[in-house]
Amino acid sequence: MNSRAKIAVFISGGGTNLQSLIDATNSGKLSGEIVLVVSSKSNAYGLERARNAGIDTFVFRKKDYPGSEEAEKDLLEMLEEYEVEYIALAGYLKLVPSPVVRRYKDRITNIHPALLPRYGGKGMYGHHVHEAVLASGDKESGATVHLVDEIYDHGEIIIQERIPVMAGDTPDTLAARVLEVEHKIYPQALENLIQGRYAKDE
Ligand code: GRF
Repeated sequence: MNSRAKIAVFISGGGTNLQSLIDATNSGKLSGEIVLVVSSKSNAYGLERARNAGIDTFVFRKKDYPGSEEAEKDLLEMLEEYEVEYIALAGYLKLVPSPVVRRYKDRITNIHPALLPRYGGKGMYGHHVHEAVLASGDKESGATVHLVDEIYDHGEIIIQERIPVMAGDTPDTLAARVLEVEHKIYPQALENLIQGRYAKDE
């Protein structure tokens, strides 16, 4: 039997990376199956993308629970119910709760729109990243897929792809070119992880 690896994608916004992962599962570039989309915002457009693709959704907000413990328990139960094996963060703006990070050790990925370890960490998201790259005068930017631990943008790097910063780039033009790279490398990185091509030396 050839069962497909079950993936949950966590989002907070528009979900173009989610869309690229959905497309990659449909074209076969990504052998896994997205079984659940978790959003930290109830109005994220990515939720609509999920629904259009027939994928179940779950809005997870800590404020909806009496405390962190209850929230974490509910999220873990949901992931268990869907038999989730891998978690892909795609524009997810919250920290993944520690018990989830521990349960899914080395099976959670994130995509970041810069060449980590530069331009990462709390507050470094969206246009802030591209503004910082342009302000620094760096000649290159790019996208990074990395494993997730309990610190923002910190875990081990799986794939990184570079693009040149062009004269006249604005945060928007740079973001758009980086996003193209993101859409290409995220499905590849996840596939590599699922196929065990990215194995750590023990
Ligand atoms: C991407 O640039 C990603 O690198 C970052 O957040 C953005 C999400 O975009 N983590 P989208 O929601 O996938 O369109």
